[in-house]
Amino acid sequence: MALLETRGLSVRFGGHLAVSSVDLDVESGVVTGLIGPNGAGKTTTFNLICGVLGATGGRVIFDGRPIGSLSTHYRARLGIGRTFQRLEVFGSMTVRENVLVGAEIRQAWARFSHVSPQLLADGEELPLGEEVELLVERLGLAAVADVRVGELPTGQARLVEIARALAIRPRVLLLDEPASGLDDTETGHLGELMQQLAASGLAILLVEHDVPLVMKVCAQVNVLDFGQVIARGTPSEIQANEVVQAAYLGGS
Ligand SMILES: Nc1ncnc2c1ncn2[C@@H]1O[C@H](COP(=O)(O)OP(=O)(O)OP(=O)(O)O)[C@@H](O)[C@H]1O
Ligand SMILES: [Mg+2]
Repeated sequence: MALLETRGLSVRFGGHLAVSSVDLDVESGVVTGLIGPNGAGKTTTFNLICGVLGATGGRVIFDGRPIGSLSTHYRARLGIGRTFQRLEVFGSMTVRENVLVGAEIRQAWARFSHVSPQLLADGEELPLGEEVELLVERLGLAAVADVRVGELPTGQARLVEIARALAIRPRVLLLDEPASGLDDTETGHLGELMQQLAASGLAILLVEHDVPLVMKVCAQVNVLDFGQVIARGTPSEIQANEVVQAAYLGGS
């Protein structure tokens, strides 16, 4: 069973069915892709999974448990982490401080209940400062650790957002266009990072228009068009799919 599942997930905005009966399986240990044209419903699907938006139909199941009635905060606490298409970072705070916010939140949760640590080795508990340093280094941000995030180029700010999301130690990480604004070298590093994180047990759901990146890192790819899943399969199956070619890949 996949760690995160959606079944028949739907949301209607007035007369517009933005997400329509979407079934997704997001497994631990691999990167799963969610691609499709602008307006296909990818970000809306993320918002339904996180509880930013309430579904008008269907279910979100996390670790075998329906979570549709839980608040965003509680879903995060269960282990659903995300980044945002329109970058949500604390611009007036430094890189290190941004990551510390995530680590402090996790620590506060851990005081009250069990939180599954994923990023670090089993049972390993580091002092907060060390954990932040580890993440800053892992994301290649050590040289700018004391720089205010608002002064960084978008590419690095996106990495800060990922580091902060990881500091919460999610079990599944939803990444909404993480390569947007990254140069080729940064995108290469991001691809390697996603693969390493997946190899350490994290489930990653990746929304991304950089098709070569998606094809390189994903084990399975789901294609959305007009709110519906029109195809799912391995990267090579998706690239060979004529319906996908017509709806998305042919024009990209
Ligand atoms: N809160 C909302 N109210 C009304 N319509 C919305 C709302 N959020 C999204 N939509 C609509 O739902 C559809 C899907 O939007 P969404 O942002 O999920 O697309 P996307 O696949 O993420 O596209 P992109 O690749 O451009 O980011 C669009 O038609 C959008 O205008
Ligand atoms: Mg989007």
